[in-house]
Amino acid sequence: MLYILLFVILLILVFGGSFFGAPWIPTPRVDYARIEKLSNLRDGQSFYDLGCGFGGLLFFLAQNHPAVKIKGVEIAIIPYIAAKIKAFSQKNVTICFGDIKQHDISDADVVFMFLTPETHRNLKAKIIRELKPQAKVITACWGFDYDTNGIVDKTESNVSYFAYTAGEIIGSRTPKQ
Ligand SMILES: C[S@@+](CC[C@H](N)C(=O)[O-])C[C@H]1O[C@@H](n2cnc3c(N)ncnc32)[C@H](O)[C@@H]1O
Repeated sequence: MLYILLFVILLILVFGGSFFGAPWIPTPRVDYARIEKLSNLRDGQSFYDLGCGFGGLLFFLAQNHPAVKIKGVEIAIIPYIAAKIKAFSQKNVTICFGDIKQHDISDADVVFMFLTPETHRNLKAKIIRELKPQAKVITACWGFDYDTNGIVDKTESNVSYFAYTAGEIIGSRTPKQ
C-alpha cells in the first residue's frame, strides 16, 4: 500500500502539470533544430519555453546561442528541480517555478509552448496583454485555431510546429466555442 502511495506521489511530482495546462511529454530531440530554425534567434534576444519540463530544448538552444537569454517556467516539481540544477552550469538559462499564467513574459522575443489546445487558446489574452507585436510565438502539435496566417512546419516525423508573430494573434478573431 505504501509503495502504491509513493508511486502516486511520484507521478504527481512529475506529471502534476496535467492539472494546470498539459502533462509532461518532451518535445522529440530530433525536432530541436526545426524549432531553432523557426525561432531565428539573434544575440541579446529572450526565448521562453512555457512549461519547460526537464529543459531539453532550453539547454540545446542555450548551448548553440550563448548570447541569448533562455528562460523556462515549470510547475511540476521534479522537472523543475532537474532543470534548475542543470541551469547552474549554463549561465544564459533561467528556470522559474510556478504557473505560466502568473509569469511576466513581456521581455520575450520568442515564446515556445507545447501545451494542450485549450491551454494555447487560453493564453491568447496573456499574449495580447504582454507580448510586443513583433515577438514570435511557436506552438507544438496544435496551432491557434484563430484566423491567423502562421507558418506551419510539418514533416514525416508526425509533430507539426506553428510559428506566428504575436501581432497576428492579437489581430485575429477567436472562433465561437
Ligand atoms: C508537453 S510538456 C512540454 C515540455 C517541454 N516544453 C518540451 O517541449 O520538451 C508540458 C510541460 O508544461 C508544464 N506545464 C503545464 N501547465 C503549466 C503551467 N500552467 N505552468 C507551468 N508549467 C506548466 C508541464 O508540467 C510539462 O512539463
